[in-house]
Amino acid sequence: MLDRFVTTDHTEGKGLVVTTADRAGVDTVDRIELMTALAEHGYVVLRGFDSDPVTFSALIQSVSSRITLDPARKFAGGNVAQKIEAGLVPQGLHVENGATPWVPDLVWFYCETPAKIGSQTTICDGLYVWDRLPARTQELFLSTRITFARPMPEDKWKNLVFRLLDGAKSVEQITFDDLLTVTDDDVDVKYQLRPDGSVHYKYFTYAAHTTLFGTDIAFANSILTPSVNYEPPVIEFEDGRPLDAMLMRQVIEATELETDEIDWHEGDIALVDNSRLMHGRRKIRDPRRSLYNAQSYAKDDIVGAVRELASPGRRSA
Ligand SMILES: [Fe+2]
Repeated sequence: MLDRFVTTDHTEGKGLVVTTADRAGVDTVDRIELMTALAEHGYVVLRGFDSDPVTFSALIQSVSSRITLDPARKFAGGNVAQKIEAGLVPQGLHVENGATPWVPDLVWFYCETPAKIGSQTTICDGLYVWDRLPARTQELFLSTRITFARPMPEDKWKNLVFRLLDGAKSVEQITFDDLLTVTDDDVDVKYQLRPDGSVHYKYFTYAAHTTLFGTDIAFANSILTPSVNYEPPVIEFEDGRPLDAMLMRQVIEATELETDEIDWHEGDIALVDNSRLMHGRRKIRDPRRSLYNAQSYAKDDIVGAVRELASPGRRSA
């Protein structure tokens, strides 16, 4: 698989780095092979390829049925990718958009300019985190959903719906009904339209769940760092119990032990399975760092083909 290129583990049997020495085009990477590698390793870094924001966008579009963006961020690179502008502070582990009812399958990064120092993206495979949690904690997360509740200002939710509708309507034409339309049927969320035009939502989800490509349980969610761009949500179990300090300590310990770093090289493209891995970042020490981010839903036919081919799961013991 991906035989034309050199492939190595990213770190200790986790992740895959695909390297080309002759600046091959991103379009020379077989899409099914790339997605099969993603299913097996959880994340894939393409290094040394002839990449730019345009080829980055083309790659995303070739395997995605829908591309979504965080409306709180600015667009760049052909309206597919956004430059990451979440300040300079470190960001804890999270699933992209994991505190909202619109959780994408895939998260993408493109490094235009790496930092001279620090500023690594952190990455954490929820399959391994799950194995580190005590049995009673596992039972709790499997039996009881968690909820994220918060208001979204009118401009933010309308902008998001505008993107999800892919230009079918202008932002001014977006209504509350459109918000319902773009919410997948299998997502459990309660919306409340408020007189000031904002929408309050309560989103119900399991912190641990199966993944896009496999049936093993991954602990992948946004309870550690729910958001940098919006008002923080209230997070609790659906029966109203809090996520208490002891539970959170177990989660922090388990995730820290499984957290690795991506040290960016110029032109790197990384693809992350957002149903299985969490990501974050170290403190930004070099403000020239330029990293683009995109989010998308994988094409059903590609996911189907990959499920047949791949054997997703843990590194061999
Ligand atoms: Fe993120």
